Amino acid sequence: MTNFTRRGFLAGASASAGALVGASAGALIAGQQVASAAEVAAQTAVLKRSEKFHGSHQNGIELELQTFTNFVSLEIHADTDRSAMQRWMKLLTDDIERLTAGEPILADAQPQLALGPARLTVTVGFGPSLFKKLGLEAQQPESLSELPAFKVDALREEFSGGDVLLHVSADDPIVLSHAVRSLISDSLAFASVRWTQQGFSNAQGVVPSGVRQRNLMGQVDGTDNPQFGTDDFKNLVWIDEGPEWIRGGTILVLRRIAMQLNTWDKLGRTDKEQVIGRRLDNGAPLGQKNETDPLDLNAVDERGLKVIPNFAHVRRASPTNPKERFFRRPFNYEVGTAADGTPDVGLLWTAYQKNPAEQYIPVQKRLDDFDLLSKWTSPIGSSVWGIAHGVKKGNVLADDLF
Ligand code: HEM
Repeated sequence: MTNFTRRGFLAGASASAGALVGASAGALIAGQQVASAAEVAAQTAVLKRSEKFHGSHQNGIELELQTFTNFVSLEIHADTDRSAMQRWMKLLTDDIERLTAGEPILADAQPQLALGPARLTVTVGFGPSLFKKLGLEAQQPESLSELPAFKVDALREEFSGGDVLLHVSADDPIVLSHAVRSLISDSLAFASVRWTQQGFSNAQGVVPSGVRQRNLMGQVDGTDNPQFGTDDFKNLVWIDEGPEWIRGGTILVLRRIAMQLNTWDKLGRTDKEQVIGRRLDNGAPLGQKNETDPLDLNAVDERGLKVIPNFAHVRRASPTNPKERFFRRPFNYEVGTAADGTPDVGLLWTAYQKNPAEQYIPVQKRLDDFDLLSKWTSPIGSSVWGIAHGVKKGNVLADDLF
């Protein structure tokens, strides 16, 4: 039996502490000594990666998912006018420049929490309600209007609407929390918070780059999407007409979609695969081998039945013309579990596109008519945002709108 004495334990502890310090000489993260050079490299790699803020498009859209996200919807005060909006955007531009570089904002209450960039992005958008409030109807693009009601909707005010969106994402939850708090603090003179919605994807490094994440129903999600940096992406997402402020921007539809996982989990694997039309193990379309193999909507099995059933989500969602496509960048959410074990989970589902009337809405209408997946999912929040074009160095966000 090992004979532990207090003295022996302390001696051992100090010896191993010395070994650790030796192994990671000079290795301090956020003022704390960490164990090894390998750990330092892993931790600082996540903190040090950064996303460019300046450019023709805002960041936070055409990039791989960060691990943590927060959508913040604000409502302007009654006395916030166009000149106040200009002052607010100037403040936000300065804040975002600093935060995306991993630095504290001016007069930061918690500068020690600005640990590094951690791929922080902040994307700013404007809801249809803002334009009337500011008398800016002439600047409201036709593509930016409230969505029609859908039969599946079970929308709740506390997750819907708003005048201004700050969509903030990062690979580190403390970096994200600090950025969100800083941006909100600097916004309160102009607006109040209507809602916030937090979400997450996998930790960095867990899913190899380029491979899709899984949602909380267990499905590989995001396969049939336009690829970054392609003309296809540009043509579907980035707006090139209408008011100047939206050219180089896009329209975001954000839906909070709750999942009924307790009943979903009662289904067997085959049923789950039929509901979506893809395999659960690797996301391949039913009847195919690999995730990125094309859907064969005409394939029938030996009994003459469709391999991808009529009710399958991917059949209903797949485009009936080339315009009906958009970019999906969903985050999972989980906000607790009821006493009976029912989890409050789902997707912060997003569609980025030039014009929802031609892209998102026809697909949503088809799903609204018939999509077996909606037996286990229900939209409980909805909002639409015009995302302004990017910011050139020395310029201010949406300076050609206000
Ligand atoms: C909680 C709700 C939802 C879940 C769990 C979900 C899940 C999925 C999954 C697993 C796929 C297959 C992989 C992929 O291509 O990403 C998919 C495809 C797709 N989903 Fe959804 N989805 C949801 C809501 C929606 C909504 C509301 C829409 C649009 C109105 C939509 C539109 C699409 C489209 C366009 C595709 C690609 C279809 C194709 O292959 O051509 N989804 N979805």
